[in-house]
Amino acid sequence: MMPNGLYPCSTSSQTVAFWRLVLALGFPHKEAAIQSRRMELKQGDVSSLPYPAESFDIAFSLHSIYFWPKPLDCLKEIRRVLKPGGLLAITIQPKDKWANRRIEGSSIMTLYFGSELATIFSDAGYRNIRVEVPSQEDKIFLECILGVK
Ligand SMILES: C[S@@+](CC[C@H](N)C(=O)[O-])C[C@H]1O[C@@H](n2cnc3c(N)ncnc32)[C@H](O)[C@@H]1O
Repeated sequence: MMPNGLYPCSTSSQTVAFWRLVLALGFPHKEAAIQSRRMELKQGDVSSLPYPAESFDIAFSLHSIYFWPKPLDCLKEIRRVLKPGGLLAITIQPKDKWANRRIEGSSIMTLYFGSELATIFSDAGYRNIRVEVPSQEDKIFLECILGVK
């Protein structure tokens, strides 16, 4: 059986519309997955997910947590919708790998080191927390923070 997954990636209706178009045009198997109700696109805010508790086996997010005003509350909210033993993976570009250092003082974005988010994961109640650093052969520096409910 396929695991249930949550990808809290976007709040904008344009992004949801874009993905509907991509799925419709380029990925007929994913379109079929939507039509067969194995995949669902929903617009919402990660601080208040429109799902009941213990809905998902896996949740992941890429380049989004920088914009969450209260990351601890959001990580707790994702934990709420994960099943016991469910996995959360958050991928970021770490603070010291951003070319434009002015972003660090931005009022709309907060940059992190993976170790900082690992501490917030712990405060939110996750266990077995680890930070993975993918291969940097393509010069893209990322860190993935993983935790289990
Ligand atoms: C830099 S984009 C990354 C989008 C996508 N994950 C990617 O890698 O292409 C950041 C995304 O985070 C979303 N975002 C920001 N704050 C959010 C929130 N509170 N809840 C859900 N999504 C949020 C934005 O709408 C935006 O789509």
